Amino acid sequence: MTTLPEIYSARIADGDLHHDDAQEAVLPQFERIRAELEKPVKKSWFRKATPDPVQGLYLWGGVGRGKSMLMDLFVDSLDVPVRRVHFHAFMQEIHEAMHKARQQGVEDAIAPVAKAVSDSVRVLAFDEMQITDITDAMIVGRLFEQLFAAGTVVVTTSNRVPDDLYKHGLNRQLFLPFIGLIKEKMRVWELVSPTDYRQNRLAGSPVYFVQAGTEARDQINAIWTDLTGGAADPLMLTVKGRQVEIPRFRNGVGRATFYDLCGKMLGPGDYLAISEALKVLVLEDVPTLSRNNFNEAKRFVTLIDALYEAKVRLICSAAAQPEMLYLEGEGTFEFERTASRLREMQDAGWGKDA
Ligand SMILES: Nc1ncnc2c1ncn2[C@@H]1O[C@H](COP(=O)(O)OP(=O)(O)OP(=O)(O)O)[C@@H](O)[C@H]1O
Ligand SMILES: [Mg+2]
Repeated sequence: MTTLPEIYSARIADGDLHHDDAQEAVLPQFERIRAELEKPVKKSWFRKATPDPVQGLYLWGGVGRGKSMLMDLFVDSLDVPVRRVHFHAFMQEIHEAMHKARQQGVEDAIAPVAKAVSDSVRVLAFDEMQITDITDAMIVGRLFEQLFAAGTVVVTTSNRVPDDLYKHGLNRQLFLPFIGLIKEKMRVWELVSPTDYRQNRLAGSPVYFVQAGTEARDQINAIWTDLTGGAADPLMLTVKGRQVEIPRFRNGVGRATFYDLCGKMLGPGDYLAISEALKVLVLEDVPTLSRNNFNEAKRFVTLIDALYEAKVRLICSAAAQPEMLYLEGEGTFEFERTASRLREMQDAGWGKDA
């Protein structure tokens, strides 16, 4: 049996991680859950065996502190059925499943959907819990009540303390029971490390690559693996009822090609949503721009503005240096600002604060 403190120490010994007191201090919380989950379930003659309730963990704090990394260590160490999923993606699945249930005439659609989830896993590990959408806010209370009642253990990362979830949201009083539920069923823990490790990892490496071909791809792959561990899922954002896809996403880092984001009919609202969802964007294959691809160039300008405002870190491969990307055609003057922003965004210290 290997405990989480042992796993963490081994990663430090390997040179993978730096020792961090605040990270070390949270390990016993994850270890408590892991150990309890390994206990055999008590069987009774009278009723179906229900697992003993295990208090989950709500790990919150500033960006890049290692919350997702620690949760991944925990998830990998488990022997019980576990699902690690981005909170937003999970809620989208829930809405879809509820929609299907209603179409089949089920009146209280939350019940069968919650049951299907709790039947399929023992632990739900959410990355980046945040609630901004009223349709999420209005169902999470009852959904999680039923998940907890069925013995599902929930761990989550978040940038916000529970009391600030859905802050200033519409009908917030109807959401408040969910906050109470979190505090009751999950240990709330702030990760107060002084270090933004994501920023540290990026500080020493170039983030704008102009080499053509596989060299830039290899370097970008190395950064991607460093930040995310390599695995990824698509992230679907709903913007005004439409779906906008970031093809690869993990731990706040999104990866897409220029074509994915600027070659399609996306607008300012979409770029805003993308910027809100990401802490880092890896954008590949930015071509040289001209009047032949004026629309793409215009979208690129809007994308960079949105990323810049939201302080999203950008890692980019492009056919030319920023100032040489767009030399002729309408809007070259406006593009100067984009080029200057692309430069500024390469500074080691530039990026999202907590
Ligand atoms: N102790 C550490 N030593 C070295 N690198 C670390 C350490 N902790 C985390 N990292 C790395 O720093 C990056 C950011 O960590 P992580 O994604 O876990 O942060 P986070 O707290 O989840 O941030 P966010 O709130 O933005 O989601 C990752 O690449 C991770 O592997
Ligand atoms: Mg994270």
